[in-house]
Amino acid sequence: MNSKPIGVFDSGIGGLTVVRALMQRLPHENIVYFGDTARVPYGPKSSQVVREYAAQDTDFLLSQNVKMIVIACNTVSSVALDVVQKRANIPVVGVIQPGSESALHTTKNKRIGVVGTLTTILSNAYTNTIRQLDSSIEVFSKPCPLFVPLAEEGFIEHPATELIAKEYLFELKLKKIDTLILGCTHYPILKNIISKVMGESVRLIDSGESASAQVEKMLDAEGLRNPSKLKANVKFFVSDIPHKFTEVGERFLGQKMGVVKKVHVE
Ligand code: DGL
Repeated sequence: MNSKPIGVFDSGIGGLTVVRALMQRLPHENIVYFGDTARVPYGPKSSQVVREYAAQDTDFLLSQNVKMIVIACNTVSSVALDVVQKRANIPVVGVIQPGSESALHTTKNKRIGVVGTLTTILSNAYTNTIRQLDSSIEVFSKPCPLFVPLAEEGFIEHPATELIAKEYLFELKLKKIDTLILGCTHYPILKNIISKVMGESVRLIDSGESASAQVEKMLDAEGLRNPSKLKANVKFFVSDIPHKFTEVGERFLGQKMGVVKKVHVE
């Protein structure tokens, strides 16, 4: 049972930032990743459609005999955590709760910002979770949809990205937040520019990193840790292999990807 893989899914390639965090923290855990590259992006889609896709993505991971599911996608975690939990009779970790808890432990002035896709921000998932944990916290949020294609395009330290970051983030700067949740798989790729624009006094929370800490805790709590000390086996599945897939994927993963298999999910 414990050598079974952890299943991770995302709307596309962005969830590889979460796989990267998991591989660093839990190098002996086998992983199966599914990226729904044929239907990405989920960020501008309605909750109803995202919930349908999330159910199908979950079924694919369950067919791979995984021991736990990690929802790397903030958009899915925001609007479809219950769908995944209901379908899977195994532990499920989304990114909203761990990201919210990290932000709460980090803020000193009780003013937290959240950036994410349109659907994530409109769902108020981060705001509600944070305020349930501590109702004295003020939360300010802003959708930043253009960060997704900029990160995929490799515009990492690019003046165009800085200009757009300034445009998106100036409202949050005026709110005097001291903590900003990067509530989207792609945003950690742009953290240097986001940090430059927000200024040194604002601490950035990578919700994927927070989720990987939560996965570690849950593996221990459920007695599911892989006792093997062998190098882990990481398998990648996608619903389409678009141009530049490997180049972008390796940038997000921070290392070579190995074999990527295309599967049909519906
Ligand atoms: N993975 C998505 C998220 O974290 C971003 C990309 C998309 O819009 O599908 O919200």
